Amino acid sequence: MEAITQTDLDLELLGKGKVRDTYILNVKELLMVATDRLSAFDVVFSEGIPKKGEVLTKLSAFWFEKTKHIIPNHFISLDVPEGLPQYLKGRSMVVKRAKPIHLECVVRGYLTGSGLKDYQKTGSVCGIKLPEGLKNGSELPEPIFTPSTKAQSGHDENINGDRASNLVGKETFELVKTTSIELYKFAKNHALKCGLVLADTKFEFGYIEHNACSKTNLIRKEIILMDEALTPDSSRYWLKDKYDSGILESLDKQYVRDYLETLNWNKSPPAPKLPEDVIKKTTERYLEAYQKLTGEKLE
Ligand SMILES: Nc1ncnc2c1ncn2[C@@H]1O[C@H](COP(=O)(O)OP(=O)(O)O)[C@@H](O)[C@H]1O
Ligand SMILES: [Mg+2]
Repeated sequence: MEAITQTDLDLELLGKGKVRDTYILNVKELLMVATDRLSAFDVVFSEGIPKKGEVLTKLSAFWFEKTKHIIPNHFISLDVPEGLPQYLKGRSMVVKRAKPIHLECVVRGYLTGSGLKDYQKTGSVCGIKLPEGLKNGSELPEPIFTPSTKAQSGHDENINGDRASNLVGKETFELVKTTSIELYKFAKNHALKCGLVLADTKFEFGYIEHNACSKTNLIRKEIILMDEALTPDSSRYWLKDKYDSGILESLDKQYVRDYLETLNWNKSPPAPKLPEDVIKKTTERYLEAYQKLTGEKLE
């Protein structure tokens, strides 16, 4: 199995992110290609994880379909547009081009990661006061919305609701907050039925504009869900049976993170080389997530 970490299509490039390469198809549509690149601690590794891009794309498509009754999204098609190479099959998605709302909409239903660190220091997460005595993995009384800024480079920064509201406007803030929590609750229930605990996740939203009235040139703005949805890259999934016996085993790049913790690496570039077995196990983890959540096997 080969990993695809770079693309070079004969299309105008909108940008290369840590994982996705995005090309412009026309004024309204983009082609998003999920590569097999892997980032951890915001550093991208030179080795890829075979099949990862396909899992991200197909799992996002699965969730976009499943959640469209909650909010419309950018998904158009998984077909590879004519004239483009076949290696894109399964990893590319044609989407509606949106104007990004610059907020990482994080929802946490369980305490862990940076939320746990914040709580241990302040008793709150992003300014939201939590009950005493919670520990790593504790379920929260209610899911909380803990947005962060979308940094152009480097690490995202957690911010409180007031700051987020000032950044994107009160109305937009309320809408993305309510929607994020609703999406999280919906996905959490589905995941539980599949043997997974969805600890937390991150959404991105954007605007698309419609000509509401051709006579007056009035424009109606619609907020849609974009980027990726509820993948192991944007979410923390734990195995439910392990969780019930007190072990937090996550279905993502946990192997990579655990391996990195054994090294004496300062978490800034250049990234260390990943051993074969860590890569192989990580592919298996992504495939397992896909299979558990969709009930289908990836070829
Ligand atoms: N429908 C869309 N319209 C415009 N931009 C989008 C859309 N969906 C996702 N994006 C942007 O495309 C990029 C996806 O690449 P990714 O590798 O995930 O980037 P990042 O390193 O920022 O996480 C992100 O910057 C995301 O905000
Ligand atoms: Mg991203």
